[in-house]
Amino acid sequence: MQVIKTVQEMQSYSLEQRARGRTVVLVPTMGYLHEGHASLLREGRKHADVLVMSLFVNPMQFGPQEDLAKYPRDFARDSRIAEDAGTDIIFFPGADQMYPGKFRTSVQVAEFSDVLCGKSRPGHFRGVTTVVAKLFNVVVPHRAIFGEKDFQQLVIIRQMVDDLNMPVEVMGMPIVREKDGLAMSSRNTYLSADERRSALSLSAGLFRALEAFRNGQHKSEELVNIVHAGILAAGLKTDYIEVIDETNLASLNEVTDTARLVAAVYAGSVRLIDNIALRKN
Ligand code: PAF
Repeated sequence: MQVIKTVQEMQSYSLEQRARGRTVVLVPTMGYLHEGHASLLREGRKHADVLVMSLFVNPMQFGPQEDLAKYPRDFARDSRIAEDAGTDIIFFPGADQMYPGKFRTSVQVAEFSDVLCGKSRPGHFRGVTTVVAKLFNVVVPHRAIFGEKDFQQLVIIRQMVDDLNMPVEVMGMPIVREKDGLAMSSRNTYLSADERRSALSLSAGLFRALEAFRNGQHKSEELVNIVHAGILAAGLKTDYIEVIDETNLASLNEVTDTARLVAAVYAGSVRLIDNIALRKN
């Protein structure tokens, strides 16, 4: 496994590999890897001649009150996990490489970026789409793989790729959960033991709502209430709980074939997100 730190070296390397007919697959990350990332990398390995993992804690997607400075970082551990999962290249640029002084451009997907998480994190998705567009230009992948835990992010990136005719195939992979159901996230490390216990009410609520749906409850309000009751009982604060259409993030009153229950809550100061597809089986 090789570590590349400059934009120029990464881009030349990828273009050369592509010219030789090799398939380049990118898994973008902000590091502090867990099993969820490893599953994306293992999937990437299946499709790639060259598997690239980018590791960049992107300042542009953090708000002024958010946790950029204390975002967890451990390059040595990340390298081991990436190598075990079959990564060929870690692209590990500094902020000076990704955002040199003269940087003035951004990419924003209208409407989709302002709902759900976008309401309480203004500017967040503009930061995500800008850095992902840059990573696509630098790594020049044939395919890029993202997790469904950040479901809104996945929908927004697909829209950007469609709108801007980017020649990248975007692939979404299912959420990986701890044994007790908590969706894996680098931010879980911020949770105290008590918060970790309370946080379980989120995934538990989503699973209860899915069961209610499978037993015939199709009204979004009722399904949302099931999740909300568990969150309240556990002492967490709700940011949003909604049933949305997976194709356009629009709020739904009734479950349809493309419905997904999505939620964001606060356990203390830690913001947690999770979601579940509402399917009969
Ligand atoms: O999902 C993430 O870790 C980040 O938002 C991403 C896609 C790597 C962009 O910084």
